[in-house]
Amino acid sequence: MRVHTIHLIAAARPNFMKVAPLYHQLAERAWCNPVLVHTGQHYDFNMSAAFFRDLGLPEPDAHLGVGSGSHARQTAGVLTAYEDVLLDTPPDMVVVVGDVNSTMACTLAAAKLGVPVAHLEAGLRSFDRTMPEEINRVVTDALADLLWTPSPDADENLAREGVAPERIQRVGNIMMDSLEMMRPGIEKRRAWRQWELSPGGFGLVTLHRPANVDQAATLETILEALAVVAAELPLVFPVHPRTRDRLDEFGLLERAENIKGLVLAEPLGYVDFMSLVTGCRLAITDSGGIQEETTYLGIPCLTLRPNTERPITVTQGTNRLVETDELASAAREALAQPPEKARRPEMWDGRTAQRVADSLEHWLNP
Ligand code: UD1
Repeated sequence: MRVHTIHLIAAARPNFMKVAPLYHQLAERAWCNPVLVHTGQHYDFNMSAAFFRDLGLPEPDAHLGVGSGSHARQTAGVLTAYEDVLLDTPPDMVVVVGDVNSTMACTLAAAKLGVPVAHLEAGLRSFDRTMPEEINRVVTDALADLLWTPSPDADENLAREGVAPERIQRVGNIMMDSLEMMRPGIEKRRAWRQWELSPGGFGLVTLHRPANVDQAATLETILEALAVVAAELPLVFPVHPRTRDRLDEFGLLERAENIKGLVLAEPLGYVDFMSLVTGCRLAITDSGGIQEETTYLGIPCLTLRPNTERPITVTQGTNRLVETDELASAAREALAQPPEKARRPEMWDGRTAQRVADSLEHWLNP
């Protein structure tokens, strides 16, 4: 039997929990040699290595060390560095996940060299091209050979864009595999204890989208809204490095630190963070993944965005899109409701990596 080499592209924090279950699944299959390629888009310990440790991933086989930069610079850095890897040791297939700049850059490098690409988490659309991720999704899906989708809306988006049905396969949401794989450790962690909080007695905040944090006036208004919520429910806010930089630059850091009931924390590893997600009464976020994790867990989520590429979390799940001026009242309404029961979308069941590996096996026909 020929062993097929599969590159798995790990790049930024939201990718690691998508890559890990698939890496572990492929490592068990005799026909497969999974190779981890880290582009270096995220590089701080808390943004990268902590996730490798928590998710049991080995050191990457290749590290491109691209780092931060403008969109063009970061994308170009990944494109040229990854092209060298592909020319040096071409794999049988490249698997990209999610929608970060590295996802698009690696897809483009591979497609130009005729190396097949599969995209995990394909087909999601916010229909908002002011979001850098939307451009990454559209380009990645246009070029990828095999499109693994998490939900029916994604299938429909791809069909509408003229993608041939044989390229689309619904596999479910791989992040739930990570959550299930790590559940015993997450349940034991009880990370809220370090702030003397109790389960169900706090809210969790994350913010990092350029649209929310890159302008002083917008960020300041969000802080004011958080202060109103924090007066009723203590909030833990692990601050993304982009957001910390902006708070600092706009002279808002001290103000944020002094908001009563709001705890600013460093970014957390996977198990600590998911421990807070499982224990919180309410999440306030602009992340994509947290909208899905809270839906899976039945935790109310208020998403500070005008749109979402994950509409199933609103129609079937516990997610609600809110404007900043509605945040405090939406939080109050959520707190007045009894805790919800999880309504899990179909195939968000912890077995997505298995389906992806089966699909890959079928496609490569080893
Ligand atoms: C990126 C992704 C976004 C994803 C987010 C999760 C793109 C276009 N954006 O946004 O989709 O939701 O990751 O975090 O790919 N920085 C550090 N240390 C790090 C990484 C970043 O200090 O390890 C700082 C740097 O100042 C950097 C800034 O954060 O310039 C932004 O990082 P970048 O990767 O460009 O974008 P994110 O906002 O993290």
